[in-house]
Amino acid sequence: MRRKLIAGNWKMNGGLAANESLLKALMASVEVDVSEPVVSSEVLVCVPALFLAQCAELLAGSKIAVGAQDVSAHKSGAYTGEISSAMLADYACKYVIVGHSERRAYHHETDEVVAQKALQALRLGICPIVCVGETLEQREAGKTFEVVAMQLQAVMDVLDEGALARIVVAYEPVWAIGTGKTATPVMAQEVHAHLRSLLAQRDETVASKLRILYGGSMKPDNAVELMAMPDIDGGLIGGASLNAADFLAIIRAA
Ligand code: 13P
Repeated sequence: MRRKLIAGNWKMNGGLAANESLLKALMASVEVDVSEPVVSSEVLVCVPALFLAQCAELLAGSKIAVGAQDVSAHKSGAYTGEISSAMLADYACKYVIVGHSERRAYHHETDEVVAQKALQALRLGICPIVCVGETLEQREAGKTFEVVAMQLQAVMDVLDEGALARIVVAYEPVWAIGTGKTATPVMAQEVHAHLRSLLAQRDETVASKLRILYGGSMKPDNAVELMAMPDIDGGLIGGASLNAADFLAIIRAA
């Protein structure tokens, strides 16, 4: 049985005061709820790098983990503005999102760069959440499976089985991000099952244990149905993770 992971992606939102009140509200409920067996999911917030220190300190000793939204593909050196996996590890980062569609689109990250980022994270024991997903145009052209397969393959190519077992995959259809349009549970399940079958071609045990999250307008009112699907092992949540009541409702749904 795969333990569900509910991960918030704050994107470029937040501020010192807002972060504190959001995290305190989350901790107050999550700490109570985890004593009940129904709330056994892992909870994570992926925050802007500048707030890692603040959030790691606020969340120390709590049931909520902290993660980052990006990491450099390089180990260290002359890469102005970049943040290395070693730096993230210094701030108790357990997870880092790599290859989010916004970074692929606005920062021209290729599948190969995303794979290098996953490698760098794993080198420091940080779990990369590898995002894959098709655009609306690609879906309408019937290319969804092909696109996500290529994105995942690039990462599989650089990882051995031991490393592959330590990643999380997130399926985020680009057309569903921040649009209010969600893939139906059946549509999402189809892609998740396809991703798991690709992983199984490489290693069946790894594939059966690896978590595949869904992301794209996940909200309290669709979370239950999505996460009831056999291959949906949690969510990567943008907008709704900025609101304590909504994020908590999704955690409960898991
Ligand atoms: P929304 O939940 O705002 O659609 O964002 C999804 C996402 O991109 C999470 O990484």
